[in-house]
Amino acid sequence: MLAKWAVLCVSIVPLLAAQESSMAAAPSGLRCEYLTDPVGIDVPQPRFSWVLEHAARGERQTAYQVVVSSKAEAPASDQWDSGKVSNGQSVHVVYAGKPITSGQTYYWKVRYWDSGDRASPYSAAARFETGLMESADWKGQWIGGANQMRKEFTLPDRPVRARVYVAGLGYYELRINGRKVGDHVLDPAWTTYDKRVLYTVYDITERLRPGANAVGVMLGEGWFKSRALRMQIHAEMEGGQTVDVATDAMWKTMPGPIQSDSVYNGEVYDARLETPGWDRAGFDDAHWKAASAIDGPKGVLSAQMMQPIRVVDTIAPVKLTTTHPGVYIYDLGQNISGVVEMRVRGPRGTRVQLRHAELLYDDGTLNVENLRAAKATDVYILRGDGSLEVYQPRFTYHGFRYVELTGYPGAPKLDTLRAKVVHSDVRPTGGFTSSKQILNQIQRNIVWGIQDNLHSVPTDCNQRDERMGWMADAHLYAETAMLNFDMPAFYTNFLRDIHDVQGADGTVTDTVPHRYGSRPADPAWGMAYPLLTWYMYEYYGDRRLLEQHFDGVKAWTDYLRTRSRDGILDYSYYGDWVPIEKTPGNLVSTFCYYWSADLVSRMAGILGKGGEAEAYRKLAGEIKDAFNARFLNAATGVYGTGTQTAQILPLFLDMVPGNRRGGVFGALRDDLVYTRNTHLATGILGTKYLFPLLTSTDNSDLAYELATQTTYPSWGYMVENGATTLWELWQNKTGPSMNSHNHPMFGSLGAWFYNALAGINLDSAKPGFERVAIAPQVVRDLKWAAGSLDTIRGTVASSWSRSDNGLRLEVTIPVGSQAEVRIPELGLAPVTLSESGHTIWKDGKYESGPAGITGVRKSGEALVVEIGSGNYAFALDRE
Ligand code: BGC
Repeated sequence: MLAKWAVLCVSIVPLLAAQESSMAAAPSGLRCEYLTDPVGIDVPQPRFSWVLEHAARGERQTAYQVVVSSKAEAPASDQWDSGKVSNGQSVHVVYAGKPITSGQTYYWKVRYWDSGDRASPYSAAARFETGLMESADWKGQWIGGANQMRKEFTLPDRPVRARVYVAGLGYYELRINGRKVGDHVLDPAWTTYDKRVLYTVYDITERLRPGANAVGVMLGEGWFKSRALRMQIHAEMEGGQTVDVATDAMWKTMPGPIQSDSVYNGEVYDARLETPGWDRAGFDDAHWKAASAIDGPKGVLSAQMMQPIRVVDTIAPVKLTTTHPGVYIYDLGQNISGVVEMRVRGPRGTRVQLRHAELLYDDGTLNVENLRAAKATDVYILRGDGSLEVYQPRFTYHGFRYVELTGYPGAPKLDTLRAKVVHSDVRPTGGFTSSKQILNQIQRNIVWGIQDNLHSVPTDCNQRDERMGWMADAHLYAETAMLNFDMPAFYTNFLRDIHDVQGADGTVTDTVPHRYGSRPADPAWGMAYPLLTWYMYEYYGDRRLLEQHFDGVKAWTDYLRTRSRDGILDYSYYGDWVPIEKTPGNLVSTFCYYWSADLVSRMAGILGKGGEAEAYRKLAGEIKDAFNARFLNAATGVYGTGTQTAQILPLFLDMVPGNRRGGVFGALRDDLVYTRNTHLATGILGTKYLFPLLTSTDNSDLAYELATQTTYPSWGYMVENGATTLWELWQNKTGPSMNSHNHPMFGSLGAWFYNALAGINLDSAKPGFERVAIAPQVVRDLKWAAGSLDTIRGTVASSWSRSDNGLRLEVTIPVGSQAEVRIPELGLAPVTLSESGHTIWKDGKYESGPAGITGVRKSGEALVVEIGSGNYAFALDRE
């Protein structure tokens, strides 16, 4: 018996050990500079992030080891072995190995040790690949010519590794041996070309062959409004031989089938002018002209380190109607950014036209008035060789729900057209749903509105003759974008774009790149510089961006200071744009000036710049005093002319003197609830800051009523009037004036869905969701709400449902993070609280037990639970 027992013990021990070590699972979601296996990184010290996995709750990383190798198979660390580093950091770990060099692939993996010093297995290997790190690495020249360029070259053998580095302005389509390379469209991203041009790197190893090869490039005008190409191919053969092919005046050029192309106006494509075989070897280009070496844009070449624009989805039209003989109207049922793919067969030279619009007139015909000068018209002229011709424009995009088709040979059918949804391919990372249908529809419109406007820069709209990186729009919907999409690489790039436009005097511009609007920017537009830098820190813990942009943000603030008098900033162009009731511009500008100074002070504090932290705190204090002295009317007790926005802004930033706060808030509440019958009168700024203000002042019921309002002005009003995206104006206008129907700036509301309704909040003291505050607002008739978010550290989720006697709340916190969970008692006190069936609060006391929970306390009308990582199911019940 004893012997048997001993055997049993012996066999159990290794089993337990195995189980223990597997609890800390291999890290997943490896990223380098926010990207998964990026090809084309040109920062000398890239940063690594990974997501920790662990079977137990309340777990964290106590140490990590990163190994970087130049060989795929080699377990060796010929580049870098960090060794076991005692550190909880799982994001932004800076590469510190041998210098990385141009055009190399590096492989990396990571493991970690958990709270019990148990090592996880290594992660699967991830990769990153460098672009051209030095300008001297560029062998090719800028060349110009017609919109088709070609070159043939020979390889002695099949390459073992081949890459192409391409910068093609305005837009390019790269083709090798008869086929398009990669799946980017409208590449490269739009930048200030005098400062910077982005290039893309593709792996073309499989596309090249021994002997003759051909490369062909089509060029569109894009935002460059001209054409220029600089590229090079580097191919390595077995045995070490290399072949380089670079742009020079030996390339050949010839106009192709694209007769004209314009972002706004569309494309004219004459298929009769196609030059079949031009992108293959052996093509007779004797009559093609030589390309010319040109100066090219002045900007430096930088790797495009963000998600490219792609065709992200295909949608079939839902309806086809005929308004006049030969005039066909397609309805996609959704306002999108993109182009149409058309199928057609017919006589040579037939000219088929596609016009795009957001709106129809009552008689069903196309309303293009709000596109202003943008023609949004694509024309396809048939080859007419009897085959089925498929056309999809390359170098344009439109914002549209409806398409008018004319000139079509025969009778088109519903499936003659399909729409291609085109935008920066940022992965959806979040989700929000609730028991309230109107909120779900608004969430849907917000998500569509934002993604439609991510076109390598955050645009204001996607349809009319604008589509600019308007800076206020950019910062107003940034948080909502960060909660719904994988945004950090995109905004890292955009911050550099902002830096690229900054003048020596510190000024930034209304639009970035600067095409429209002014320099200096309206202070509320220039706010994008401090705010996006700050959001990147809050949402992703990106301290490097704080370091990189601190001087720029400070210079912008210093510029504002030169324009201020006695703490008041009087210049303003737009202020609280498109409101129902206008707020004085200098009030808005001074608020922004205050906020900029305050953010400089905070950033300085984080970066250990004590002197600047103090100096800008003092400056902010002076601005605040000046703001109150000037705009707070001692007699009426309200700011400015009493508009909602004039009260919201100082309340939101806690600028209001303590003894005045109640009065100012009361005035705001009265105006919202009584004067306007629970409606907003705010423009884009007031609207954004009202919602978090209402949450922090325990007025979530009011916020909810405003958010679910369906009469003018409200988001629900847009939905009731058929919107599938967000409008620029609260009013339902359809004429020639400014009234885009796809303008994401009012999408700021979307952040409130996550923050208040699902209750997911970050903590800027522990940024990047290292510490999370879960605080769902259980409001009015809302029965349940659910939000989830893939943060840089892993998934954060919160979902709740309520019944008459209690509340159920499920929470997910990633390994390495901690959370404070605030569970409202809902007037049910005395209550009990349990987690997965174990009581953790009873008779007004905390009962310890379940793993991961370190305490429960009562705070006001809520129970506050401290938790570590893991999944939790809380149940609050009337006792
Ligand atoms: C844009 C806005 C922008 C504004 C500046 C408009 O034309 O579409 O979204 O912020 O101009 O006032």
